Amino acid sequence: MEGHAEEIDNSIYENYGERWYTAFDDPVALLRAENRVKFPWILSQLMSYSQPGSRILDVGCGGGFLSNELAMNGYEVTGIDLSASSLNVARAHDKTQSVKYEIADAFNLPYPDASFDALTAMDFLEHVENPEAVIKEFSRVLKPGGLFFFHTFNRNPLSWLVIIKLLEWFVKNTPKNMHVLRFFIKPQELKIFCQRAEMEVMSMIGIRPVISSINWEMIKTGIISKDMRFTLTQGTLLSYMGMAVKKRAL
Ligand SMILES: C[S@@+](CC[C@H](N)C(=O)[O-])C[C@H]1O[C@@H](n2cnc3c(N)ncnc32)[C@H](O)[C@@H]1O
Repeated sequence: MEGHAEEIDNSIYENYGERWYTAFDDPVALLRAENRVKFPWILSQLMSYSQPGSRILDVGCGGGFLSNELAMNGYEVTGIDLSASSLNVARAHDKTQSVKYEIADAFNLPYPDASFDALTAMDFLEHVENPEAVIKEFSRVLKPGGLFFFHTFNRNPLSWLVIIKLLEWFVKNTPKNMHVLRFFIKPQELKIFCQRAEMEVMSMIGIRPVISSINWEMIKTGIISKDMRFTLTQGTLLSYMGMAVKKRAL
């Protein structure tokens, strides 16, 4: 468990193709189900704290779920990822055909300082070796007062069991080393990384599965049901998201 120098495998995203949107025999189906609670929360925060049409950077956008949703809601979106094939899928699913999808590395964003009103990094921070360095880079490209939305996983024995082991045991095509415990981030650590990058975490909220939406068929077959649901919860012991604000100059 902790201290074990296992490496995360980010090459798996290159092979997802259309399965980003269609697979139910893979943890990506859980990601899509979680999005049904993540997106309304993000949109409500964006509507409260930013102007319609603001510029948003979606880092590690993968198949473009959030980028495309934000574009549908009138935002000017750029989505970046290291996986070219994922970006192609994201582009194909962009009904607005307005999102700028670009290959870029989160550690070295090809944008000037203070370029964006908001930045999103969903299910991303636990995929990089040095989350503090990427958070610094995120802060650099955000305007003062800009918003940083994140989603990641807490690091503790329960999250190891639920998010890593239960998926490996019960979801059919869970790729090896899709998640590695030492890359998970405690909420307090994330708050400190943000503070050191001149951002303040304003809110954090947990996400958990609705137990009654998990049925025996899923457990037996390893195929996620279309009816699998998640809900928001105050506890951040497992999966959590939140919003930080970049400090304004004095
Ligand atoms: C778990 S997926 C999340 C995708 C998307 N944010 C979502 O929630 O559906 C993580 C993504 O991060 C990308 N990624 C990993 N390291 C990266 C880096 N250094 N720069 C940009 N993207 C990266 C992977 O290619 C992958 O698409």
